[in-house]
Amino acid sequence: MAQEDVFKKLVSHCKEYGFVFPSSDIYDGLGAVYDYGQMGVELKNNIKKYWWDSMVLLHENIVGIDSAIFMHPTIWKASGHVDAFNDPLIDNKDSKKRYRADVLIEDQLAKYDDKINKEVAKAAKRFGESFDEAQFRSTNGRVLEHQAKRDALHTRFAKALNDGNLEELRQIIIDEEIVCPISGTKNWTEVRQFNLMFSTEMGSTSEGAMKIYLRPETAQGIFVNYLNVGIAQIGKAFRNEIVARQFIFRMREFEQMEMQFFVKPGTELDWFKKWKEIRLKWHKALGFGDASYRYHDHDKLAHYANAATDIEFLMPFGFKEVEGIHSRTNFDLSQHEKFSGKSIKYFDPELNESYTPYVIETSIGVDRMFLSIMSASYCEEQLENGESRVVLKLPAALAPVKLAVMPLVKKDGLPEKAREVIDSLKFHFHCQYDEKDSIGKRYRRQDAIGTPYCVTVDHQTLEDNCVTLRNRDTMQQERVAISELNNIIADRVSITSLLKTLQ
Ligand code: GAP
Repeated sequence: MAQEDVFKKLVSHCKEYGFVFPSSDIYDGLGAVYDYGQMGVELKNNIKKYWWDSMVLLHENIVGIDSAIFMHPTIWKASGHVDAFNDPLIDNKDSKKRYRADVLIEDQLAKYDDKINKEVAKAAKRFGESFDEAQFRSTNGRVLEHQAKRDALHTRFAKALNDGNLEELRQIIIDEEIVCPISGTKNWTEVRQFNLMFSTEMGSTSEGAMKIYLRPETAQGIFVNYLNVGIAQIGKAFRNEIVARQFIFRMREFEQMEMQFFVKPGTELDWFKKWKEIRLKWHKALGFGDASYRYHDHDKLAHYANAATDIEFLMPFGFKEVEGIHSRTNFDLSQHEKFSGKSIKYFDPELNESYTPYVIETSIGVDRMFLSIMSASYCEEQLENGESRVVLKLPAALAPVKLAVMPLVKKDGLPEKAREVIDSLKFHFHCQYDEKDSIGKRYRRQDAIGTPYCVTVDHQTLEDNCVTLRNRDTMQQERVAISELNNIIADRVSITSLLKTLQ
């Protein structure tokens, strides 16, 4: 199935099973704003817990905070967001549609990659087992031609971005003959900078009102509260994105999990390397396979960084950023010292000197993490008996519901027994009771929401106090004693077990 179709199915699956809905749906939705339903909120909470515990429990020198969304507006002046948190926008005069100029050019780069990959795939099919991909890429005329065009475009694009040269960005769009996907024309406006912060007013009178911003990142709440080696925070952030794309990948209201690690100047690049490794390990522990991840080092560094990389995940629409790891220098703390007039230097007792620490930041979007997990977990399987099933192979520790308990039939005391089982387990795991329809249909419903285990209570249970435990992925069943259920399941589905793999 084409990846586009898989993605469409995933979006409708999310809606049908209570993971994610468009916000304000009965009013036809609100662009790039989404609500999480009864399953989505559980998955999201589990992702946040996995992140939070990995930071705060596994690192003695990291503590958490929860700072306010509203902050003094000078913070955003000091951090550079008022002046520099912009995206270059361009409009097509015929369709009146608005685009990010850099994204139009990135899409063009991806088209060259596609052309190259198609040549490679064609040749691989033609030559079969004797195909040497590396040699083909370095010698084939058409591949070299596309590669040369791509490299030239990439160099020109990176320079234009670094120089903040908006005219050059427009010229690239013209020279590459990029057309608007809606109107099909090249009738473009100038490129303009657009600030992504939402603003509002605090105070009740027009004279007394102060313009304030909805935070576009949670990090500044950490900088202005810094007092420890590492500070972790989870919270909402807001960006007036020019183009909302790809479901919950780019939203206007989203949630971040950010950690700032304060280090001695001069040691920051070593710490940067360490945190890159720690974070990739955290992702890989979920078991989606190493091939799903890659680092992407930035060509253009943000105004505050001296090194930056993204951890990208293979989404249905290609490798995309899920997390950013940035060496942010001492830019933010120095700026806050300057703008607030207060010293926020750290006295290092070992060196007997004060300095403004450098910062390594790890910043991951909860919603993007959610999307990567859902897209890697969504499977359509053909079964041996000729039927098919949709199953979410979620990492068990993140699954919204851990266990479904089902009486084989709705009589003979089996529902009562099943309730008894749930009552002993509900304090430990999120359980669901289901007695409706055939057992096969009930399994399908649980597969569709990613429940790792189903317990069936049958007539035999009333005699021997054993139940059937069915594994979501293998569909194999084992007979276990009710008294053992808690231990067996806790070991397989707990976040603690997942965290232990990080040590
Ligand atoms: N404090 C640094 C910072 O905010 P960023 O690369 O702009 O860095 C960090 O954002 C992460 O936040 C991204 O890797 C992404 O996962 C998430 N994110 C950023 N913008 C987003 C948006 N519009 N919608 C959803 N997630 C977003």
